Amino acid sequence: MSNRATFATRMGAIAATVGSAVGLGNIWRFPYEAGQNGGGAFMLIYLACVVLMGIPVMVAEFVIGRSTHRNVCGALRQLSPGGKAHWFGYIGITASLMILSFYSVVCGWIVEYLVMACGGRLHGLNPDEYGTMFATFVTHPWRPVLWTVLFLLLNHLVLRRGLKRGIERVSNLLMPLLFVILVIFCIHSLLLPGAGEAVTFLMAPRLDDVTPAVALKAMGQAFFSLSLGLSCLLTYASYFKNSDSLTRNATVIALLDTLVAVLAGLMIFPAVFSHGMEPQAGPKLIFEVLPLIFNQMHLGVMWAVLLFLLLFLASITSTISMSEISIAFLTEEHNLSREAATAVNTGIAVVFGTLCALSFGPLSDLTICGKTLFDLFDFVSSNVLLPLGGIFFAVFVGWYLDRRLVRAQLGRGPVVTIVVFCMRYVAPLAIAAVFIYGLL
Ligand code: PHE
Repeated sequence: MSNRATFATRMGAIAATVGSAVGLGNIWRFPYEAGQNGGGAFMLIYLACVVLMGIPVMVAEFVIGRSTHRNVCGALRQLSPGGKAHWFGYIGITASLMILSFYSVVCGWIVEYLVMACGGRLHGLNPDEYGTMFATFVTHPWRPVLWTVLFLLLNHLVLRRGLKRGIERVSNLLMPLLFVILVIFCIHSLLLPGAGEAVTFLMAPRLDDVTPAVALKAMGQAFFSLSLGLSCLLTYASYFKNSDSLTRNATVIALLDTLVAVLAGLMIFPAVFSHGMEPQAGPKLIFEVLPLIFNQMHLGVMWAVLLFLLLFLASITSTISMSEISIAFLTEEHNLSREAATAVNTGIAVVFGTLCALSFGPLSDLTICGKTLFDLFDFVSSNVLLPLGGIFFAVFVGWYLDRRLVRAQLGRGPVVTIVVFCMRYVAPLAIAAVFIYGLL
């Protein structure tokens, strides 16, 4: 494994990993979940989940990836020779393909809306037409499929170029751009008349809204948002240099990811409140409510383009990271060329992505356990496989791995001691408790 590629710079490694973490989960889901589930109280539980479970599980994935410089199955086989640990690698690969399939559908919607925004076609409709337009689009028999496939092809093109020329270069370019757009948006939003109300909605703790179910949501959100539990970060860490500090990288990544989520809330809600709209629109918020708001705003066409560009940038760096799990596995365990491995990953995602895209229209009657394919993939991967993976990684590194190996990866110091303590005791127990409660 000595000639295996690494990210060229520490900046590149962080940009790519933050790119993985920052996605639709931050910009669309976090603000809406926080708003509906107790505002500041949700925010506090979320932060606790990030610190007590998120960072320890992230560090556990980093230790496995960086100590072996291999794909997930190869890494687990090397660390547990003759054991069954590598089966968790297969679970991670399955989860990543499931997430890639349904996530790409939403990315496809975003590309369609980006193209429409650029052509000025999101402008000048009457309020009802925004809702009808979205409903007609997602139920259409082929348009969402077309955009899903196009998005996956773009994803394919970046991945084909490899680690440094593809993933790292694109992340170095897109992540700063994403931050710039987000900050411009926030400044503009915070100058709107609804800003005060929005900040209160998002930040003021409403303790009455907090129930155990909210804790479950906050944990699920933290896992999804930090890309934890499916070996995505393990795979990226296998490209980290041996000189990078893993705890420092994990802290920076978790901080930036949380910052983007909060900024996204500060970007969206002032606009919603200043136009007298409902903040609880959920999935439709970005496709129906925001275009309608931009329509009434000065320079509305520009804001709409910027919003969908922002969402596009955030989502493609996430799908790249999900895909890299199976690409690393196929190239290293099955000796496929990078081109062939990327083609296999894209092929699988195109098939399942198409089925997920159609589950809003022609396949909406095809349900398993009462869920459409899109919802099923989302539920099984986010609510079942990610927490299971999280417990496994924390226990594997916290209890099973040789202490000397862990110490060689993490070094010593008070932060390391706290992180390892949380990895051994707090994270597995807390994740298991919330997970079991969630299934009851
Ligand atoms: N973290 C990404 C987001 O917030 C989603 C993701 C999940 C990416 C799992 C990679 C792996 O949208």
